Amino acid sequence: MGHLFNRNVLLGVSGGIAAYKSAELVRQLRSLGANVRVVMTHGAREFITPLTLQALSGNPVHTELLDEEAEQGMGHIELARWADLLLIAPATADLIARLVAGRADDLLCAVALATAAPKLIAPAMNQQMWRDPATAANIATLEQRGLRRIGPAEGEQACGDIGPGRMAEPVDIAAAAADLFPRSLLAGKRVLITAGPTREALDPVRYLSNHSSGKMGYALAQAAAEAGAVTTLVSGPVALSVPEHVQRHSVESATQMLEKCLELLDECDIFIACAAVADYRPANAAGDKIKKGPDEITLQLVKNPDIVATVAGRENPPFTVGFAAETRNVVEYARGKLANKKLDMIVANDVSDRAIGFNSEQNEVTVIWPAGEEIIARASKLTLAGRIIELVARAEAASRNG
Ligand code: C5P
Repeated sequence: MGHLFNRNVLLGVSGGIAAYKSAELVRQLRSLGANVRVVMTHGAREFITPLTLQALSGNPVHTELLDEEAEQGMGHIELARWADLLLIAPATADLIARLVAGRADDLLCAVALATAAPKLIAPAMNQQMWRDPATAANIATLEQRGLRRIGPAEGEQACGDIGPGRMAEPVDIAAAAADLFPRSLLAGKRVLITAGPTREALDPVRYLSNHSSGKMGYALAQAAAEAGAVTTLVSGPVALSVPEHVQRHSVESATQMLEKCLELLDECDIFIACAAVADYRPANAAGDKIKKGPDEITLQLVKNPDIVATVAGRENPPFTVGFAAETRNVVEYARGKLANKKLDMIVANDVSDRAIGFNSEQNEVTVIWPAGEEIIARASKLTLAGRIIELVARAEAASRNG
């Protein structure tokens, strides 16, 4: 089984009698480590109260498409981007038909249209409604579009009928959701990741640095660990906790980061340079605090070693991945860096867009390797990290095979 640790699961509940089982489903999802938010249709609220699902999920329940407060906090687009998985359980015949039609006139359907996350539905309806050719055709259409389904199960129904249409059991739905996030993509691999900023000392109390939060590097470490890799972070100073099953080495300066990476490199199959390493450091860090003096002072800076290029330039280098933060000609400049630094892959993002990149929760990137490129649409850094790790795993395996 895969797992849902720290995955954002958006649970859509539509209006059928099986909605009462959503309470148990929320509990099951949370017990697998998922962060759960719930969207309910108006029909669903006839069967179970938002308060129940709010208490169990630990988050406010969303019900309205046009809600002034929600639009400022978690409106439909934010919810759509937040989700790593959209799980709809129960999915009624009506909801399924509305998904097929691409309707956006209630919150759940609008989110379903707006999200790039995978979708899993657990249909629940009367057995005759399930057997109707209209429903069968709708299900076939959704599956053709890549949507996954669990159930329905056969058995006695609330209406007294016997046949297919019962919603799958919550424990099975949660397991099916977890299976969408396999963890063994990098089993047996050792991954080393640099993250965060570096600090270049001017004197004992001052330094040069940058605004990197380290979030992307830490998300990559989490995704690599979840994919089964033995994962190590070499991290500059950040305010983040270490992801589960990741070993962290804390450093301050670029020189220390390089030294630590070289020390750990023999034990590494994949090297991912996500740190925002300072390009220059003060030529001479003062031993004592620099005193206030003249109106102008001049700092002399010297170039720092390029960590990722040093690693890629070694004999038998690991599969090496760099990042490129650009403000224009993003893909062109990134391709240049891929070649100049002799990397196997580069992840490029446009830092002129303030909604993504440094310090933001979300990102949007283009992953480039010698033979191709793939744009990963705007999503949470963890979702993005998962997809980057998938691409890295695939390319690393291909590089070994030929
Ligand atoms: O050349 P530029 O700094 O734009 O390249 C960014 C990539 O190079 C990132 O992967 C970053 O982690 C890495 N880098 C490095 N050492 C440096 C500068 C950048 O590893 N001194």
